[in-house]
Amino acid sequence: MALRIEHSVPLSTLSTFRMGGVAKEVVTIFSEDDLVTLFGLLKTDRKWFVLGGGSNVIFPDVDCDALIIRVGIEAITVDESDTGTVVTAGAGASWDALVAFTVTAGLSGLEALSAIPGSVGATPIQNVGAYGCEVKDTIVSVRAFDTVQKEFVEFSNTECQFAYRDSVFKHVANRYIITAVSYKLTKEKPKSPQYPGVSEYFEKRGIAEPDLYDIRSAIIAIRGTKLPDPAHIASVGSFFKNPIIEKSQAELLKEKYPTLAVFPVSDSLSKVGAGSLIDTMGWKGKSFGSISIYPHNALVLVNEGGATKTELQKVVDAITFTVKEKYGIELSVEPEFVSEELLT
Ligand code: EPU
Repeated sequence: MALRIEHSVPLSTLSTFRMGGVAKEVVTIFSEDDLVTLFGLLKTDRKWFVLGGGSNVIFPDVDCDALIIRVGIEAITVDESDTGTVVTAGAGASWDALVAFTVTAGLSGLEALSAIPGSVGATPIQNVGAYGCEVKDTIVSVRAFDTVQKEFVEFSNTECQFAYRDSVFKHVANRYIITAVSYKLTKEKPKSPQYPGVSEYFEKRGIAEPDLYDIRSAIIAIRGTKLPDPAHIASVGSFFKNPIIEKSQAELLKEKYPTLAVFPVSDSLSKVGAGSLIDTMGWKGKSFGSISIYPHNALVLVNEGGATKTELQKVVDAITFTVKEKYGIELSVEPEFVSEELLT
């Protein structure tokens, strides 16, 4: 299939937070050859920006001269060998369609990451994670087009430099375009996620040894109570990362504020639930103009319609400031804020 070019596309229709100006041109590529053709034609000074499912980006409300590139490569292949099963998915495949496919195929490794919106290509960038599982646990390699050398390269798991919601791809912006990701999965019995809420879900239903379908159903049900469906409510899921702080500081905070969610990370570090920090300030369900805090989860900001970047930034600053003032903890935002400079 040849590349597809669309003109004058509102970025609000391509991002789940539904903010942004109008993109002059959006091009969708359907094969690696398309990408080579595109970069052969593209003027060297033309700015470009790769957009996946749009479920973790915040666009500024300015019109966009940069070329928006979407990767429409969706094929899923399975490679069985003596060392295991590797599933490779095109970057444009829907993440949850891939998870559903692996569950149906009896392959374990991705089931705890069910119902996460977005595309496969975005998963290594921010090392997507949920319910005690991160994509770094299964990714064997990431294939990408190096727009500088004009060649395809493979990153091994180690070369991806994965960390909590982080990878090398966040630090070399606008060089690599991910085209496919390979995950190593297993046919062994799945391990039930050791995460608050999940074991309770199975206990309640008398499921002693959950299979892949049970785990997927549990995660879909649990996520549904805490995270809005992007088809109906404009959000990007968690808006802040969970801060990692010194264990001693976490213990002092927990003594003073017993409802804070604090989890061990290592002998000296603890993770604090950013949602619980915002929740204990009593902000759940509050509205600030067009931005509100989701009534079921204080970590989720909602665009009630027509929110501007300035309005959003004010709410983000107010949350960050008050959390810092009350708890001495610096919050950092989780979605990618696209700068005006990148787009204009
Ligand atoms: N909590 C509150 N009040 C709230 C929200 C949360 O007290 O308003 C408490 C919860 O009761 C729980 C703790 O905070 O004790 C953690 O909450 P939860 O289990 O919902 O997870 P989270 O830390 O808020 C993270 C990921 C999610 C992922 C879930 C499940 C980040 C930034 N977020 O959220 O990922 O789905 O764990 O594993 O790490 C995303 O990245 O967009 C995302 C949704």
